[in-house]
Amino acid sequence: MSYETILIDKAKGVTTVTLNRPDKRNAMSPRLHEEMSDALRDLAVDDETQVLVITGAGESFCAGQDLKRYFHDIRDDPRARAQARQNSHDWRYRLLHPFPKPTIAMVNGYCFGGAFTVVSSCDIAVAADEAVFGLSEINFGHIPGGMVAKIVTDSMIPKQALYYILTGRQFDGATAARIGFATMSVPLAELKDTVDGIAADLRAKDPLALTACKEAFKSVDLRRLSAEESLAWLTAKSDQLIRKQSQRGEIDGIQGFLDKKYRPGFGPAPRENA
Ligand code: COA
Repeated sequence: MSYETILIDKAKGVTTVTLNRPDKRNAMSPRLHEEMSDALRDLAVDDETQVLVITGAGESFCAGQDLKRYFHDIRDDPRARAQARQNSHDWRYRLLHPFPKPTIAMVNGYCFGGAFTVVSSCDIAVAADEAVFGLSEINFGHIPGGMVAKIVTDSMIPKQALYYILTGRQFDGATAARIGFATMSVPLAELKDTVDGIAADLRAKDPLALTACKEAFKSVDLRRLSAEESLAWLTAKSDQLIRKQSQRGEIDGIQGFLDKKYRPGFGPAPRENA
């Protein structure tokens, strides 16, 4: 599939997907949803992709759903509407949220409405201090639909989430970090270097362990399991991880520490193929 609405760049194990409709502030059209679904299916099994970064072209991260193409134009076409909805849901929740490798949202500018779900589906969200976030749905008389209300309820401090849902007021990257929606914020001028540094750190870790950590945190909701269920799941996952690592034939991480090859408190075990 050739892409019209996204760009894919691969460098040193880090794949950057750029939402690329800058003239429409990277709003998500049905075509963009289709292309993201297709791209993420490929990248999930692409050996060159060890870390995935999602960002926006120009001065916007993403202006949310394309209010014209996603809502207005296909309002009376049930088939197109169903297809767009499915792709829209698939790439963010079935592909990006459980993506088997670490993911980083690099929020470079405007981030409105449906774009919140792109940020929340990534493991790490680094926002520019200058980025502008807004749950603008109330301003056009809607609720934050799709999964937006759910993900802000899950991720933000509750009184802050409801405040921004009700008022539609904008907030900046520093506020996004303070209320739990972004991992951190940095000046725009430092955004790319910060993300590059995090991606480099992630690339140095054992990819099998990263996937297992993600599964523990995202695929299984440990908060909803009892202590006994959590212990059983995590023990089984740890055993599975150790089995997979031993099949790979690399030096055992704990043995490496005991052999004084490195200190886990300061950084990852040296890996042959890193
Ligand atoms: N859907 C469709 N088109 C959008 C869009 C969206 N969500 N956001 C921006 N655009 C389009 C505009 O219609 C305009 O198109 P045009 O040049 O053909 O007229 C173009 O992008 C530029 O937008 P403009 O409003 O002129 O840019 P701006 O920089 O002054 O403002 C925004 C940017 C994002 C603040 C403003 O466009 C906006 O409020 N967009 C809607 C955001 C929103 O509510 N998203 C939630 C959807 S779930």
